[in-house]
This record gives sequence, structure tokens and C-alpha cells, in this order.
Amino acid sequence: MVTVTVCVGSSCHLKGGREVIERFNALVAQYGLADRVALKGCFCMERCGEGINWRIDQEYISSASGKDAIDTFYQRVLGPLGLKPADGPQGTA
Ligand code: FES
Repeated sequence: MVTVTVCVGSSCHLKGGREVIERFNALVAQYGLADRVALKGCFCMERCGEGINWRIDQEYISSASGKDAIDTFYQRVLGPLGLKPADGPQGTA
């Protein structure tokens, strides 16, 4: 089980953190990963100046934009699970 935690503190929220967690949630549903990827929200990670902040397990990640976060999610979460964007049940990413 991979745990992905997205900061929903005010600074990250203003940069698009809410949209990021919603998109991660949609991807987890699309790929049927609810038993393999746990999504969580948390308050300020005390890294406000670094972008949209989130973690894969204990590794902190700062994304410059929502798109950057989604790209990283594909590479770092879906990729190790053997999934590519075209592998989704809907064939889209
Ligand atoms: S609000 Fe996200 S790191 Fe501070």
C-alpha cells in the first residue's frame, strides 16, 4: 500500500492543492487502486514556499503546478504499479 498525502493547508490550497487531491482521487478510482493507494489530506507541511506540497509515503514532493503534480503521480505512483496512462479502464489519462 502506497500512502499519498496532500497538503490542504491554505497556501497549498491557493496553489491548487485541492484540485490535485481531487485529480489523484479520480485517478485512483479510474485505475481501481483503492486497495493499493491510500489518499490522505493533511494540514500545513511547513514547506509553503516550495509549491504544492505532498508526500509519497514519507518522501516530500513539491510540485510547481497541478499538472506537475499529476505528472509526478503518474511517474512515481502509477509507474511502479506497472500502470501507464493508457492502461486505465477508460483508456484515457
Ligand atoms: S500550506 Fe502546504 S506546506 Fe504550508
